[in-house]
Amino acid sequence: MKTMQEGKAIIKAYAAGTVSKDMPVFYNPVMKLNRDITVLLLNSIDKKNMQIALPLAATGVRGIRFMLELKKGKIKSISFNDNSTEAVKLIKANLRLNKIKLSKKISVTNLDANLFILNSKGFGYIDIDPFGSPNFLLDSAVKRLGREGILAVTATDTGALCGSYKNACLRKYSGKPLRNEFCHETGLRILISKVQSAGAQYDKALIPIFSYSKEHYFRVFFKCIKGKKKADELMKNDGYIVHCSSCLFRKTTKDIFNSNKCPVCGSKVDYAGKLWLSQLWDKKLVNGMCKNIKNLKDKELVKLLGIIKKESKISSVGFYDLAKVVKHNKLKSVPKKDLLISEIKKAGFKAAETHIRPNSVRSGIELKELTKIIKKINQ
Ligand SMILES: C[S@@+](CC[C@H](N)C(=O)[O-])C[C@H]1O[C@@H](n2cnc3c(N)ncnc32)[C@H](O)[C@@H]1O
Repeated sequence: MKTMQEGKAIIKAYAAGTVSKDMPVFYNPVMKLNRDITVLLLNSIDKKNMQIALPLAATGVRGIRFMLELKKGKIKSISFNDNSTEAVKLIKANLRLNKIKLSKKISVTNLDANLFILNSKGFGYIDIDPFGSPNFLLDSAVKRLGREGILAVTATDTGALCGSYKNACLRKYSGKPLRNEFCHETGLRILISKVQSAGAQYDKALIPIFSYSKEHYFRVFFKCIKGKKKADELMKNDGYIVHCSSCLFRKTTKDIFNSNKCPVCGSKVDYAGKLWLSQLWDKKLVNGMCKNIKNLKDKELVKLLGIIKKESKISSVGFYDLAKVVKHNKLKSVPKKDLLISEIKKAGFKAAETHIRPNSVRSGIELKELTKIIKKINQ
């Protein structure tokens, strides 16, 4: 066990060996970014007096950071929970280490996460940060999520969502994944659609306000709006993305694609979905988060948000991997990303890099137009 600092929190955690779910109490230093973004987002949304639930709290680091780093007036209560007795002991020790006393407002319980949530009267913020899939907690979390509440969801089963295990994705997420260059985006969108279906059952519309894909995980924050009509409207944004692996043509559709031939090259196409076809971010929130980044030394966070800020202005689904576009369309060479983005903009289309994959461009431009621009740059 080691004592270390993360953000403003000092915590004891198991640090030796490899990070795995077999650790006596789980702590992953790589997920500092996940916690940094959560703190930044909660400090940037227009919400005060939150009743915060951490059903899978592990060392308690996330909640302790909330106590020490969220602005005054943001927190009404924080409820830490974990079904591991070791974790609960460590949460209490870590609270003491940070001079935080248990009270009516700060509680620690040792329950199964579903019981913990269902036993409560409800929360304004619920953070589902599990090993693997968040599915086992979605139903109870959505039931106890208050009006305008925020639901944060992490999924680390990217193998299923990105198409390495197609049947697992169909079974767990009711969506067909597609293993291609933008499989991390389709995986993220399949996850969003799944969480929204859990909400819709209870007439709750879960609108994604901030989403990202990083290394081994996806993370999405949803804002909950109550109402049958809102939930119906939201579901209309589900659909499919059709993709040709020969020429890289792609097209979104609300109905299952009824032809399996690529309209550009005639090859057989494949599809992913059902998945969320609308916005991944609330642009105003992203701008606010960018303004609120205090620790400019944190290069990873600054870089990620800088890219997402530009990316959030473009509503297209999927992106172009430049090396693939060049290879599959037999073009001469891969243009510089920045030059290509500026040429696409000159041609009248929106374009930006994407945080999901390097050397790739998010743009609503059609493939035909894009190849013309690359050919012109190549001349
Ligand atoms: C990935 S860790 C959580 C990490 C933590 N949120 C953080 O930011 O460091 C998952 C935690 O969930 C706990 N857990 C797993 N299944 C659970 C269940 N059904 N009920 C309650 N806790 C559970 C594990 O003991 C583990 O501590």
